[in-house]
Amino acid sequence: MANAGKKVRNPFRPGAGHMPPYLAGREHETDEFRQLLEQDAILANLILTGLRGLGKTVLLETFKPMAIQAGWLWAGADLSESTSVSEENMATRLLTDLAVVTSSIMTAMSYPQPAGFTGQPPKPVTLDYYSLKDLYDITPGLVSDKLKNVLESVWLHVEATGKRGIIFAYDEAQNLADHAPKDQYPLSLLLDVFQSLQRKGVRFMLALTGLPTLFPKLVEARTFAERMFHVVFLNPLSEGETTAAIRKPIHKESSPASFSAESVKTIWSMTRGYPYFVQYVCREMFDVWVQAIDAGHRPPGIPIKEIIRKLDSDFFAGRWARATDRQRELLGIVARLPNCHSEFTVLEVVEAKENQALKKSFSGSHINQMLVSLSDAGLIYKNRHGKYSFAVPLLGDFIRRQEDYGEHVR
Ligand SMILES: Nc1ncnc2c1ncn2[C@@H]1O[C@H](COP(=O)(O)OP(=O)(O)OP(=O)(O)O)[C@@H](O)[C@H]1O
Ligand SMILES: [Mg+2]
Repeated sequence: MANAGKKVRNPFRPGAGHMPPYLAGREHETDEFRQLLEQDAILANLILTGLRGLGKTVLLETFKPMAIQAGWLWAGADLSESTSVSEENMATRLLTDLAVVTSSIMTAMSYPQPAGFTGQPPKPVTLDYYSLKDLYDITPGLVSDKLKNVLESVWLHVEATGKRGIIFAYDEAQNLADHAPKDQYPLSLLLDVFQSLQRKGVRFMLALTGLPTLFPKLVEARTFAERMFHVVFLNPLSEGETTAAIRKPIHKESSPASFSAESVKTIWSMTRGYPYFVQYVCREMFDVWVQAIDAGHRPPGIPIKEIIRKLDSDFFAGRWARATDRQRELLGIVARLPNCHSEFTVLEVVEAKENQALKKSFSGSHINQMLVSLSDAGLIYKNRHGKYSFAVPLLGDFIRRQEDYGEHVR
């Protein structure tokens, strides 16, 4: 890193949903979304999925201007757990988001009463939240009937404005759930309503992002979800893309500092292309170097151990704290499987020599049970083929490091 001489701004942005200074890769995923935008009848909706920190939120954010450019309206929000508490909450969410993009559209007649009903001449109204809600309230039937009626009526007006359609973009959609004991099915409601509208030719498209549990959850709620969505799975960046993510922000800022080829290699091997880690490590290293330069020192080597230790406490420790001692012991065995970075089976854990060597080894049914509670804690997930993976990137490395730090996981 060359001498700075002036106050240098750190361009790197580790943080949930923070747009990176340079969005590396993702061309293929962007092309896939572009194709979805070209649909005349909506046959496929988007699911953008991947582990924590892979860049789902920021990629969805870059899709927004693309969609608008292609003539779509864009409605959406984060799906909090409260949205998914009841069908009414889901309906309120959809109407609220819809109203934001339709409130400037004037209709020729008044909602909700048809012309002549009150003896008054119809007056133009805008499709703001209150008129959508009025129409919703006077529509008879179940929540789904009401929603379909409002959305279908809105579509006629949207189509008349020459817009291609509306994208309903929801982040953190893994929070969606049905609640059979309470007789509330907000997730199924969402799927039913969109499927029914799309069959009628209404161009309202869902773009959902979420953790890898999302798609299996949708399919479990409604088997037709399997055909309704095109699933885009985000992988870590390649070495070339990681290099661009490290180098380009510095060039863009015309920063007098730059990472050497060797440093770039080190960051690649520390982060293995996981975007959040790339931003995190680059930000830390940049700060260390700028401080050294400001103090008139030669830039030190990369403090790898220190940065990793900090990352462990900032990123991993909170998640690790959710596991009990016995769960940690099990995860310790998983972390030693050679395939722990991809997917593993219960049988592999049963047969692992570390398990066999335990005084109180884990049986298959015990492991199955514990993996369910570890899924609930957000540490692992079961994919559609019945295999398991870590839900947190590079968790296996973290677990193995715990032993180095002298914190016993087994
Ligand atoms: N393609 C990319 N190139 C460089 N940095 C990226 C890229 N994608 C994401 N990042 C960075 O990675 C971090 C995580 O991004 P983001 O919050 O979008 O991930 P996420 O998948 O939505 O995570 P979560 O599951 O926690 O919501 C951010 O700091 C972001 O700036
Ligand atoms: Mg996100």
